[in-house]
Amino acid sequence: MLLQSIVIFFSHAGDNYSVGNIEVGNTKIVAGYISEITGADQYEIVTHKYDGMAYTPLINLAREEAGNGEFPPYEGEAPDLSGYDTVFIGGPIWWGTYPRVMFTLFRDIDLAGKTVIPFTTHEGSGLASTVRDVKKAFPGATVKDGFSIYGHEVRSGRAKVEKWLKGLGYE
Ligand SMILES: Cc1cc2nc3c(=O)[nH]c(=O)nc-3n(C[C@H](O)[C@H](O)[C@H](O)COP(=O)(O)O)c2cc1C
Repeated sequence: MLLQSIVIFFSHAGDNYSVGNIEVGNTKIVAGYISEITGADQYEIVTHKYDGMAYTPLINLAREEAGNGEFPPYEGEAPDLSGYDTVFIGGPIWWGTYPRVMFTLFRDIDLAGKTVIPFTTHEGSGLASTVRDVKKAFPGATVKDGFSIYGHEVRSGRAKVEKWLKGLGYE
């Protein structure tokens, strides 16, 4: 039985190599589809660290953060997840996994006993190591197979998201 769910996501608006300068990030669009289809609440992981950065400096900064295993801070408080049994976790692939700021939040939340459903948007890496990394961060959770979609496909890709969710029992 599916009870209350929430989508926890990070998404970077602004300069994007594949789709140009975007006002709403690719992952945020997918998070929107998930909420529309399943009724899931949302928690957006926000940082202003990358605001206004051009693509190449961002790529370099993100590589440095990943290489050093940094934990950049997010804005505000971690969400209270006590009312949720299912947690979608989504973000872009940055250097083979989720952006480091997502791992900062992962340290602050406990998903033991919950069902966790990872998803990504990417430009070729698919899920990369996200499912493995989520399993490692939340050993007490039941982590389902992940879903990935190309970032440049999301604006016309609602049907793909719908199909994936139908397979999970959401109509
Ligand atoms: C810093 C950075 C690193 C990236 N690294 C990868 C990568 O390793 N593999 C990949 O397929 N796409 C990579 N991408 C592309 C993004 O994953 C893709 O554009 C994604 O849809 C962006 O989602 P967003 O708009 O929600 O932030 C990278 C993009 C950025 C900005």
